Amino acid sequence: MNAKELFMNGEFIPAEQGVIPVRTHGFSYGTGCFEGIRGYWNKEDQQIYVFRLREHFERFLRSCRILQISLPYTVEQLVEISLELIRRNDQREDVYLRPMAYKGDQIVGVRLHNLEDHLIITSEPVGNYIDINGLHCCVSTWRRVDDNAIPARAKITGAYVNSAFAKSEAMQNGFDEAIMLTHDGHVSEGSAENIFLLMNGEFVTPAPTENILLGITRDTLIELARREFGRITRERQIDRTELYVADEILLCGTGAQIAPVIKVDHRPIGDGSVGPISKALQQLYFDVVRGRIPEYRAQWCTPVYPAVPQAVHPTGSTSEVLD
Ligand SMILES: Cc1ncc(COP(=O)(O)O)c(C=O)c1O
Repeated sequence: MNAKELFMNGEFIPAEQGVIPVRTHGFSYGTGCFEGIRGYWNKEDQQIYVFRLREHFERFLRSCRILQISLPYTVEQLVEISLELIRRNDQREDVYLRPMAYKGDQIVGVRLHNLEDHLIITSEPVGNYIDINGLHCCVSTWRRVDDNAIPARAKITGAYVNSAFAKSEAMQNGFDEAIMLTHDGHVSEGSAENIFLLMNGEFVTPAPTENILLGITRDTLIELARREFGRITRERQIDRTELYVADEILLCGTGAQIAPVIKVDHRPIGDGSVGPISKALQQLYFDVVRGRIPEYRAQWCTPVYPAVPQAVHPTGSTSEVLD
């Protein structure tokens, strides 16, 4: 079911009134940026926990800065508006918040400066974005956009044409997902996910300078791997063929969550099934995002509704697939 309301240019309005004129600059030229944020319904707590909401809006404002968009809101105000939107929609399920800032003028003429900045925030019910039980990926023939072309560190709407080329090529050739290389041929990221390889007991992930979006899930995994598994993550350049010899590979992102990769270009990763570390991290991640681990709930999960008093708070791991 679609949400009842959305936030557009300073007010909450009925969702069906959330329309943009056909000549809108952001629509014609892709001059906008956005965020994808998940809120997880926790049945025991009768609560939605929004995962790393602040960090998403911090990145949102950094994307705006790169695109010369200035919004009249602080991170705190954007957080409050988002929570209010979910409450107004009375959502009690997993939700996906989509803030989008864009050039709102109705003009012909491609540029970034001297244009009006508009803001929309929507909140919709959501499920899984890609398979989380083992992906077959290909290395894409499409290269990742370069920082000097369309900066990947900003979540720019127009840049997603690059992701769409790669994703459709992969799927139309029978794969589940694409892994893109940089212009000089090093591993960058998936179409909408960061990538981690497990090699010789260490995690390896492309450095921030490899034309990646600096993912919030990526940051979460680096921290969880260190704190819970005692494993450091090396951020470095990765060769294409390192993909073929890795012990385990996983893709991660707000949409994808933790999606283990079991084959790349027809070569099995490890023994060709989901590896033990990927499985353990995936389970831990689902417990963390759903607010089941008090330490991480306090650190990363923002509750939407006032807390319901409970006699006993259930602890321990619950399998996500049973939800
Ligand atoms: C291109 C790209 N890379 C990586 C990610 C993962 O980022 P995050 O974990 O912040 O969702 C996304 C997801 O939005 C993405 O679109």
